[in-house]
Amino acid sequence: MSFIIESEDIGLRNIEMNDAERIYNILNDPTSLEWMNEYKPKSMDEVKEMIDKYHKRTVLGKGYLLGIELKKENKLIGMIAIDIASVINLNAKFTNIIIDKRYRRKGYGTEAEKLALNYCFNELNLHSIHMWIVEENIASIKAARKAGFKEVGKLFKETYRHGTYHNLILFQALNPNHNETT
Ligand SMILES: CC(C)(COP(=O)(O)OP(=O)(O)OC[C@H]1O[C@@H](n2cnc3c(N)ncnc32)[C@H](O)[C@@H]1OP(=O)(O)O)[C@@H](O)C(=O)NCCC(=O)NCCS
Repeated sequence: MSFIIESEDIGLRNIEMNDAERIYNILNDPTSLEWMNEYKPKSMDEVKEMIDKYHKRTVLGKGYLLGIELKKENKLIGMIAIDIASVINLNAKFTNIIIDKRYRRKGYGTEAEKLALNYCFNELNLHSIHMWIVEENIASIKAARKAGFKEVGKLFKETYRHGTYHNLILFQALNPNHNETT
C-alpha cells in the first residue's frame, strides 16, 4: 500500500472508487452523522460522486479525500478531506473527518489529523488550516486540540440539529515553518 504519509499505526492514502462501499458504511452510520456539518446520509451514487469530485479536485491541487488505513489490519477505518480554500492565501479546511465507530477512542482520529496537518504544512506548504466543529461534539473537539488546533472563534446558534440551533466553534492550525512574512 502506498501512503502519502504514515505513522506507526495508520497511513493516509487517496480514496479510490473501489472504496465506495466501505466509505458508504462508515459515513452513513448514525453515530457518524450525529454532529457532522453535512449530516444527511449519502446514497451510494452520492458517495461515488463525492469520490469522483475529489479525484478531479486533486488533479487541480484543490482538494484531497484521504482514507485512514489501519496498517496492522490493512483496513480502511475512516476518512478525512482537505479542501483548499485559496491557493493565493495557502489555506484549507478539514472536513468529513470520520473514524469507523468500532475503531474510535483508540487515538486514530487524533493521529489522522496530525498526519493530515503534517502533509498540509510540509508537503503542500499550506499556511493555515481551519475546521468548524459543533460545540457538543466533544470527541472531535478533543481530537482537534490534541492534534494541534487552537480555538479561534465561535458562531452562535448557527447549525440546526436535533430540533434546536447549536454553536459552531472555529479551530485553526498555523504552519510552524512559516514566519510572519512567508
Ligand atoms: C471525532 C472522531 C473522528 C474522533 O476519532 P477518535 O479516533 O475516536 O478520536 P481519538 O481516539 O483520537 O480521541 C480523541 C479524544 O477524544 C476523546 N473521545 C473520543 N470519543 C469520545 C466521546 N464519545 N466522548 C468523550 N470523549 C471522547 C478521547 O478519549 C480522546 O481524549 P483523551 O485522549 O483525553 O482521552 C470520531 O469520534 C468520529 O468519527 N466521530 C463521528 C464523526 C464526527 O463527528 N466527525 C467530526 C466532524 S467535525
